[in-house]
Amino acid sequence: MTISINAYTPNFVAEIYDVDLSKPVSAEDIHAIKQLFWKYSVLVFPEQTLAPQDHINFAQQFGPVEMDRVLAQENAAPRLGHAFADISNLNPEGKIWNRESRQRMYKEGNKLWHTDSSFKYKPGLCSLLYSMKVVPIGGHTEFADQRAAYDALSPEMKTRLQGLIAMHGIEYSRRRTGFANFVEDEAKRLPPVPQLLVRTIPESGRKSLYVASHIGRIKGMPDAEAEALVQQLMAHIIQRQFVHIHRWRPNDLVMWDNRCTMHRGTDFDDLRFVRDMRRATVSDVANTCEQEGVAVPA
Ligand code: OGA
Ligand code: MN
Repeated sequence: MTISINAYTPNFVAEIYDVDLSKPVSAEDIHAIKQLFWKYSVLVFPEQTLAPQDHINFAQQFGPVEMDRVLAQENAAPRLGHAFADISNLNPEGKIWNRESRQRMYKEGNKLWHTDSSFKYKPGLCSLLYSMKVVPIGGHTEFADQRAAYDALSPEMKTRLQGLIAMHGIEYSRRRTGFANFVEDEAKRLPPVPQLLVRTIPESGRKSLYVASHIGRIKGMPDAEAEALVQQLMAHIIQRQFVHIHRWRPNDLVMWDNRCTMHRGTDFDDLRFVRDMRRATVSDVANTCEQEGVAVPA
């Protein structure tokens, strides 16, 4: 085994050195990386020079890569191809977007605490975000550990949450940013889906909250009560002891476990500086209710 690590905290976020992800990685190193990933939930691989195919090859070690994008516009003519989410402030021509651009309004949602693709029936397992160009001020990405946040809940709250099913929808989170103009095809493709509010991560056996700004309702609960509960949990999860801030350097590959972390982008002058990143998202094995043997509500 060649890899070495430097962990930020005992159980959350580690940097991984001495592995070149642009070359075939040995089975032994892949195994070691996976063990570290299940433990730390966020891994940072600095100084990687990754062609798109290298990025995808590494992502596929964790499962199938999502090929569908949310915006019809990006599904039709993706700047980076179908395998990547375009996490840049560039238009399809590669120029900084306009103040009024639809992509810009849509991507405001990335600044809300969320986890990727929880609004898909089969949600996101992990995301791998690679920085090609970073900005001099701001544009950090923050990560919150939902396992540690779960552990710190009171026994009463743990009991209250057990078995609750939340409805996640991309329209719910986008409405929070004022983005309401989904075209019919986008809305139809992505109706709200059920996900457990507390889940167990199979590889570590750890329980985790599964909260995101994509939640709009909780099954069997009045909407106002659900909203209050989600906001209470959100405030709990994003306390500073559960949060890590990643300050991007060029050629960082950062991967996170969408099943048990939240993340959000932070502000930067997106009409002045180019920030260019691409994200591969790996699908989970099944809907969270199915994974835990809970009946999927109609
Ligand atoms: C993402 C995301 C935030 C950022 O890539 O999924 O939410 O800082 N990114 O760009
Ligand atoms: Mn995201």
